Amino acid sequence: MLRKSIAAAALAAFVIGVVSGAAADDKPLEPWERKENHVKPPKDSPLDYLVSGYWFRTPKTRALQDDDFENPAFLWVETAEIEWTKVDGKAGKACASCHQTAEKSMKGVSARYPVYSARDKKLIAVQHQVNHCRKNYMKAKTWKWESDKMLGMAAYIGLQSRGMPVNVSIDGPARPFFEAGKAFYHERRGQFDLACKHCHQANFGQYIRADFLSQGHSNGFPTYRLKWQKLGSLHRRFRGCNNNIRAIPYKRGSPEYTNLELYLAWRGLGLKVETPSVRQ
Ligand code: HEC
Ligand code: HEC
Repeated sequence: MLRKSIAAAALAAFVIGVVSGAAADDKPLEPWERKENHVKPPKDSPLDYLVSGYWFRTPKTRALQDDDFENPAFLWVETAEIEWTKVDGKAGKACASCHQTAEKSMKGVSARYPVYSARDKKLIAVQHQVNHCRKNYMKAKTWKWESDKMLGMAAYIGLQSRGMPVNVSIDGPARPFFEAGKAFYHERRGQFDLACKHCHQANFGQYIRADFLSQGHSNGFPTYRLKWQKLGSLHRRFRGCNNNIRAIPYKRGSPEYTNLELYLAWRGLGLKVETPSVRQ
């Protein structure tokens, strides 16, 4: 009980302004409140409706995402497109040697990742598989999670699923990983003793300091953040959200964050993939 009230106080200290959820008749609904921007949540979802982080951003930020020529993320995507056909490593292969055109072979891939890998006996994200291909099939150096090359490749692969609904599997061998991600999402942590749900489930549509809270979905990642002035991974975002509440962040690509990635994808099941999105 005491813990609860401390967390409530911490959150109250964070949340400074409230945007009316049920808008008065004379006030037009915010884009994120409008029914036409809502998606039906999956069975057992804790949310009444799903709405992409896109609709919580300003018209200016949304416009950047809407135009591929204006969207700065495409600088990384274009580099990855060249990388795709470039021979690298001792095996003398390029991605294209085995996967031909990404438009065909990578279509829908990001929409169903992370997946359980029978080979690794664990959950893997797209980035893990890319490095598996580089190391084992190309005999090339692996890429760091947050390197420009990995970010670009993840965005380029993600782009091939753009417009497709997020469609991860949480059944069978993926189940324990899903459950671990779910537990992580609901655990209070850090000096502020807050869980993900306290911000992204209980308080979306409200301001927290200068930030306007969304439902915290993953359908736009990797995303170009104006604040970062570059493309960034979902796991970088997790680290940011952990740091904000003074909690110890995990490593990018860690099992903890990969499990969380699966749970988050399920929370956004049916939302359209927007990669590469633009955020504030
Ligand atoms: C020598 C062949 C080969 C090369 C070169 C190769 N891959 Fe792969 N890739 C595979 C195979 C085989 C699979 C199927 C999974 C497995 O066996 O690891 C795969 C699977 C994948 C998947 C998952 C697809 C899915 O449907 O789940 C991605 C993403 C991927 N590769 C990306 C890349 C990228 C990016 C490169 C270049 C940096 C690359 N691969 C280079 C052979 C290759
Ligand atoms: C103290 C509040 C707070 C907590 C707790 C918090 N976040 Fe966030 N998160 C934010 C803010 C602020 C943003 C930026 C605005 C937005 O998109 O909601 C954000 C953004 C995000 C985004 C990007 C959404 C998009 O569309 O670009 C994701 C994903 C996310 N958070 C996941 C999480 C996860 C997972 C946790 C738990 C580990 C978590 N957050 C905990 C405040 C929080």
